[in-house]
Amino acid sequence: MNYQVDPLISQEKLAQAIDRLAGEAAALLEPEPVVIGLFKGAFIFTADLVRALSRHGVEPRLDFLVLSSYGSGMDSGGNIKVLLDCREELTGRQVLLVDDILDSGNTLSFTVDHLLNKGASQVITCVLLDKPQRRTAHFEADLVGFTIPNTFVVGYGIDYAERHRELPFVGMVRFTGED
Ligand code: IMP
Ligand code: MG
Repeated sequence: MNYQVDPLISQEKLAQAIDRLAGEAAALLEPEPVVIGLFKGAFIFTADLVRALSRHGVEPRLDFLVLSSYGSGMDSGGNIKVLLDCREELTGRQVLLVDDILDSGNTLSFTVDHLLNKGASQVITCVLLDKPQRRTAHFEADLVGFTIPNTFVVGYGIDYAERHRELPFVGMVRFTGED
């Protein structure tokens, strides 16, 4: 299938949203929370968010969690496993869980349970993009950068078949028909 990537959210809009999210998160967070990003999609968002949090006086510990799911490549598929767990001690700690996209909600509802089972005292969730039309799990994020329609996006860490993570903006994949 041929496709094009059409710009959806510019670098400037991303930077503004991240500063707003960091301010909102700082109001909810203890001075030294644990920030946990979900690999790989949230790696750029998490990197920018922790630097914005530092401007808001938060001094987080940072960790990442690698999940595996067996979906179509276009969604999480729902069958989620922890491939590489975070190593920070979470007992009694407040966690800010960061992901790129909230879609069906399976990934985040699974991960929140996982972190609470590891002893986190509270898990606050922050996503760059929310696609509420696609939700199947009963789950809403505490902090949302942008609400977007049911469209497939790439860039700013987010991939389509491992491509386009390096784009500095978020783009929309538009399929253009046969090869
Ligand atoms: P959920 O479990 O359905 O909420 O899935 C969220 C995960 O699905 C995200 O972290 C992404 O890995 C993937 N995903 C959902 N929508 C998109 C998209 O538009 N582009 C790339 N990956 C997506
Ligand atoms: Mg993901």
